[in-house]
Amino acid sequence: MIEGELKVIDESRQGESITMESKGKSSSKKLFLESYGCSMNFADSEVVAAILIGQGFETTKDMNDADVIFVNTCAIRDNAEQKIRSRLFEFKKAKKNKPGMIIGILGCMAERLKSKLLEEEKLVDIVAGPDSYRDLPNLLVQVENGHRAVNVLLSREETYADISPVRLDKNGVTAFVSIMRGCDNMCSFCVVPFTRGRERSRDPESIINEAKQLFEDGYREVTLLGQNVDSYLWWGGGQKKELAVETVHAALNHLLKPEEQSKYTTFADLLELVAQVNPELRVRFSTSNPRDMTDAVLHSMTKYENICKYIHLPVQSGNSRVLAKMNRGYSREDYIKRIESIRVIMPECSISTDIITGFCSETEEEHQDTLSLMKWSKYFYAYMFSYSERPGTAAEKKFEDDISTEVKARRLQEIVDLQRLLSEEQTKLGLGKIHRVLIESISKKSTDMFCGRNTQNTVVVFPKGNHKRGDYVNVLATNCTSATLIGEVIS
Ligand code: SAH
Ligand code: F3S
Repeated sequence: MIEGELKVIDESRQGESITMESKGKSSSKKLFLESYGCSMNFADSEVVAAILIGQGFETTKDMNDADVIFVNTCAIRDNAEQKIRSRLFEFKKAKKNKPGMIIGILGCMAERLKSKLLEEEKLVDIVAGPDSYRDLPNLLVQVENGHRAVNVLLSREETYADISPVRLDKNGVTAFVSIMRGCDNMCSFCVVPFTRGRERSRDPESIINEAKQLFEDGYREVTLLGQNVDSYLWWGGGQKKELAVETVHAALNHLLKPEEQSKYTTFADLLELVAQVNPELRVRFSTSNPRDMTDAVLHSMTKYENICKYIHLPVQSGNSRVLAKMNRGYSREDYIKRIESIRVIMPECSISTDIITGFCSETEEEHQDTLSLMKWSKYFYAYMFSYSERPGTAAEKKFEDDISTEVKARRLQEIVDLQRLLSEEQTKLGLGKIHRVLIESISKKSTDMFCGRNTQNTVVVFPKGNHKRGDYVNVLATNCTSATLIGEVIS
């Protein structure tokens, strides 16, 4: 999505940054933690904060006041990395005024560039990849002893299942819960399999316990996070990598005999288990993959009122040749069938997407296919990007990045303009209807108004009255902007 266009639903796709603050045990050591990129990164920063607060740190919002600056980074597109690079120079300046300050780069850009960041530019003292956060206390000690410290080992097991994330930047109502890490899909354009490593699922018991704890702490919505939630699989013995490929396929698609199937927890099963924590706890999830999503997930969604009727289903392109070249594992027709089953099983479900324009060799006709599929799919929202070549990916090795910047920009603009119309149409459909809204925060536009979302993830704004954050209210929508419903609470 182009910055400033449409509504921000998920910072992940915006490249926004958030500085996080939380008080630890009383200590003189202060941590400044800044996060970029996807929701998973924001969830990871909460694990990092938990680890450092356990070491006696407290967080600060003032980087000049910090003893340690950690920046949790994103490598998904070149512009994300450029933004972070310029930020690192600002941190370096802060360090000049406070010798002894330690600067660490964490996350996907750290994993991608590894020790290059230490050697070439001497911008940082610590480089830590997404699977090495338990090692941060040791890395800090190494730096205190005069060394630079790197840990970019990727793990096949690490899920940080036993660490209770410290909720940062909190509204106290909605929280992210990581259910898996890494990705094995190898979409040809994508750097994630290289920066976040092999896919692994987290023990369901630890997920349920985290959801229960959040509910007890007053939270009323959890978003289950994974790069590809539909391939979540847990069994008594642990990770699916120890199982035969055929068994994984049968278990994921619910093809086993009931007594066999019951040994496995699929994403559809997990969704139900989390929904059962409490009917007042809303459950959302991201991201679904058109290749792997099963009808079982849709049926689980219909069984529970508290599982929100909203699916983020990235399409990337509307053309089958381009999709094959992207190694997405589905065609235009397959994608259409997936949406058709969503519409049959859950007619009220809203769908959003991700689109990449200007992928290698994409023709004008193929671009038109993307526009026509957008119209057919009637997306509520879309995050729209120009293709950015990433070093090390299959696309970088095999294909030429041959669509000019101007053509990419023009096609992207056409996609953005169309999506604005589609969003408006979908938002208008909510007018005159009553929406059950979970109150999340005070509206950005007016302190007299509250803001929350309906089940379909549309933002709803209404006068505060006597309500409070975390309450559910029924709002009659009487007005709207392109992506927000405005209304009043009815009893
Ligand atoms: N499965 C992931 C996708 C992560 S990347 C998830 O859970 O969200 C988010 C989006 O960034 C992708 O869906 C894709 O649309 C976009 N993207 C990924 N690599 C890209 C690249 N090289 N250039 C442009 N956009 C890219
Ligand atoms: Fe990237 Fe495709 Fe996985 S977009 S995160 S490789 S599903």
